[in-house]
Amino acid sequence: MESLGATLSFPSCLVILLLLLCIGATKECEFPAIFNLGDSNSDTGGLAASLVPLNPPYGDTYFHRPAGRATDGRLIIDFIAQSFGLPYLSAYLDSLGANFTHGANFATSASTITPPTNIIPQGGVFGNLMPKEKYFSEALYTFDIGQNDLAEGFFDNKTVEQVNASVPNITVAFSTNVKNIYKLGGRSFWIHNTGPLGCLPYMLASFLSVERDEFGCAKPLNEVAQYFNLKLKEAIVQLRKDLPLAAITYVDIYSVKFSLITNAKKYGFEKPFVACCGYGSGEYNYGIAECGGTAIVNGSEIFGGSCENPSVRVNWDGIHFTEAANKFIFDIISSGAFSDPPLPLNMACHTNSNKIQK
Ligand SMILES: *[C@@H]1O[C@H](CO)[C@@H](O)[C@H](O)[C@H]1NC(C)=O
Ligand SMILES: *[C@@H]1O[C@H](CO)[C@@H](O)[C@H](O)[C@H]1NC(C)=O
Ligand SMILES: *[C@@H]1O[C@H](CO)[C@@H](O)[C@H](O)[C@H]1NC(C)=O
Ligand SMILES: *[C@@H]1O[C@H](CO)[C@@H](O)[C@H](O)[C@H]1NC(C)=O
Ligand SMILES: *[C@@H]1O[C@H](CO)[C@@H](O)[C@H](O)[C@H]1NC(C)=O
Repeated sequence: MESLGATLSFPSCLVILLLLLCIGATKECEFPAIFNLGDSNSDTGGLAASLVPLNPPYGDTYFHRPAGRATDGRLIIDFIAQSFGLPYLSAYLDSLGANFTHGANFATSASTITPPTNIIPQGGVFGNLMPKEKYFSEALYTFDIGQNDLAEGFFDNKTVEQVNASVPNITVAFSTNVKNIYKLGGRSFWIHNTGPLGCLPYMLASFLSVERDEFGCAKPLNEVAQYFNLKLKEAIVQLRKDLPLAAITYVDIYSVKFSLITNAKKYGFEKPFVACCGYGSGEYNYGIAECGGTAIVNGSEIFGGSCENPSVRVNWDGIHFTEAANKFIFDIISSGAFSDPPLPLNMACHTNSNKIQK
């Protein structure tokens, strides 16, 4: 992909418009709820509520306190909820002050694709905090997962070939999850592919000797991510056949993130390979003190604080994107320019879309 600007130019808008007219899908979807399944890229508090609380400066930019999100502000899932006029999602594991009337977030940092046992909480004592029964079928189900399945393999010292070979099993498990949600009534699915793992500071700092591409990303890691996305796409083509009433949108968030990282200046960002928050000795500023944590360096304690201006930075803590980057990515993917079928987020309920896949 050469440039996001070119991709979003007039002709592609026209294509989207014509497609909408052709399939008669001009009515915007009204999702009363969102259920999100994913890892820390969309965790709104699951990990913080259950295991590891995040320290300031997490949350500083928007919530002005750590808000369970592994970033300085809002996540893509927050912008998605906001775009439908829905409240920010409560984390499934957050038992205090949570309100699930408009959905829930099952994302947990470090989670991987494993078959969930009870994906949807039902009634019980939390009845008045739960979505209406019918919302489960009317809701939008969003997915952002896969990154940790791959990263974990590399941290376990598996070879590129071994991690690559594990991909088909991961995407099979993913399909099983989608089918289970479909059986429970879910119909609208918005699925992000996995991002360019090899461009993230934590991977770059951990695998210094792995081959780099022309931009400075770890080439084999991105190749494995791309293979994951290929298999994910194949799985989705099959799911569309198996689940005839489902509207399944595949979102190529990889390309958007890759373009942002490799053309950061062009989009008003800087230092895409340097973690804003935390402390490290090398070019990636990662690995000595975690964001919000401390470490002893040369005999004195240092704090892993924030960089001067997170609003122009791409990467927050070495692993996750900043709020500014999340907003940038959301604005592009919600337009439909990177979706298959090429429909915007607010059209993601249209089953007709099945017929226009390439
Ligand atoms: C939960 O949120 C909904 C929508 O924002 C609101 O109408 C409702 O009063 C809230 N319930 C509680 C118990 O806070
Ligand atoms: C991977 O290899 C590194 C370096 O040899 C070692 O420190 C680390 O413990 C290994 N990790 C695992 C999970 O085996
Ligand atoms: C994939 O799953 C099958 C069946 O569970 C298992 O036998 C196989 O070893 C797995 N392959 C990889 C590469 O993990
Ligand atoms: C991953 O496996 C696929 C299928 O065997 C292969 O085409 C691809 O080149 C492999 N990629 C890497 C990085 O090993
Ligand atoms: C510790 O001090 C040495 C000597 O001043 C310096 O070269 C090194 O970069 C310092 N280490 C860190 C992690 O900053």
